[in-house]
Amino acid sequence: MRTQFPAGFAFGAATSAYQIEGAVDEDGRGPSIWDTFVRRPGRVVGGHHGDVAIDHYHRFAEDVAIMAELGLTAYRFSVSWPRIQPDGSGGINPKGLDFYKRLMDELLARDIQPWLTLYHWDLPQALEDRGGWPERDTAYRFADYAAAVHEALHDRVHTWATVNEPWCAAFLGYASGEHAPGRREPGNALMAAHHLNLAHGLAVQAIRPSRVGGCVNLYAITPAGDDPRDVAAASKIDGLQNRLFLDALLTGRYPDDIPMRPREGDMELISAPIDVLLVNYYSRYTVSGTAPGRASASAAPTDAGSPWVGAEDVAFLDGGRPVTAMGWEIDADGLREVLARVARDYPPIPLVVSENGAAFDDVVEGGRVRDPDRIAYLEAHLEACRRAIDEGVPLEGYFAWSLMDNFEWAWGYGKRFGLVHVDFQTQRRLPKDSARWYAQIIRQNGRHEPTDS
Ligand code: FCB
Repeated sequence: MRTQFPAGFAFGAATSAYQIEGAVDEDGRGPSIWDTFVRRPGRVVGGHHGDVAIDHYHRFAEDVAIMAELGLTAYRFSVSWPRIQPDGSGGINPKGLDFYKRLMDELLARDIQPWLTLYHWDLPQALEDRGGWPERDTAYRFADYAAAVHEALHDRVHTWATVNEPWCAAFLGYASGEHAPGRREPGNALMAAHHLNLAHGLAVQAIRPSRVGGCVNLYAITPAGDDPRDVAAASKIDGLQNRLFLDALLTGRYPDDIPMRPREGDMELISAPIDVLLVNYYSRYTVSGTAPGRASASAAPTDAGSPWVGAEDVAFLDGGRPVTAMGWEIDADGLREVLARVARDYPPIPLVVSENGAAFDDVVEGGRVRDPDRIAYLEAHLEACRRAIDEGVPLEGYFAWSLMDNFEWAWGYGKRFGLVHVDFQTQRRLPKDSARWYAQIIRQNGRHEPTDS
């Protein structure tokens, strides 16, 4: 890579609370839907759970020291709602807030910008017991939680993000059932999507005047062929995956092809101006309305229904690209494509790539993890970012997913996304070759001089 990024471009890495913290019963934390879900037989590969995860709750200082060593300029993490409000409403748990204060003090002492995500899927179980995201009240409970976190932490946070990937929370949580709470209720999944959008809008209000954005996971999508049925299939999937969230947040409308019934005033709230849009990107889908194919794009590891509400008949085809250990096709130009599309089709908004990365079957050999595939993945996607910037996209940063190997939801600990290897028995952290490569990229603001190291 021989390109440079604009001054001030954020080079970060991302994590989320349930995937790394552990300490699920400590300092007054209440249960979340993931604590419940992981106990259900057959829901997570190997019966894995996040009780200990990678023990970040106790090792955060060591982890921030690793970030500093890598030269990260920004770190994106999430706050565990049930640490702050064990019952999902009412009383605030000061010990929960203290943890994030200590974490951010450590980051700020090392000149690393804290990017705080309020919701990365760990809904307090008490709120799920009252109906979860299909229930409108959950959005208002989220706004209260956002206000409490904001009041306590606003002086330390660089950028706030509301809801991480509402698509996953709604459709994997309530339609396919592959994620917590594991319900298969397609109609309710659409309600959940709307209430997650509403939660975003209400939280933006609660967080002002701080710098805030929403966070969506976008896919590049290609019809398998010219047949109008393939084109229609691609448009359907684009509607559910991308436009349902982009249109709502950035234009205040739902796409005409999705049956949403917001109440009066909801769309104004949902589309309240934001300062930045956080974009998570991993892959491209090739879809067909004619061919037989996999019914689900994500090939869930456990028994799951379809997340594609109203588009269950669409087939996901093999696009013929190399894949990661998740089976996700690698298509770096798709990242440029989705960024350029947001810049072209929507009102102007600064963008950040808030997650991008790859799982591979890493091995430790002689105290080292050689992961050339991950380096190639990151390099290609950073170059795609650079091309997007050259095309005029206002891209302000890039966060690798993930800083460290961690609990990969329904896949358990079997899928390693980290720049830093974690031995899940000893909790020993070992920066992979990709971490050293990324450190060099950051030091040289994007330029990589080949070395033999
Ligand atoms: C994203 C999630 C993140 C992680 C990556 C691989 O959808 O936001 O927590 O699981 O995928």
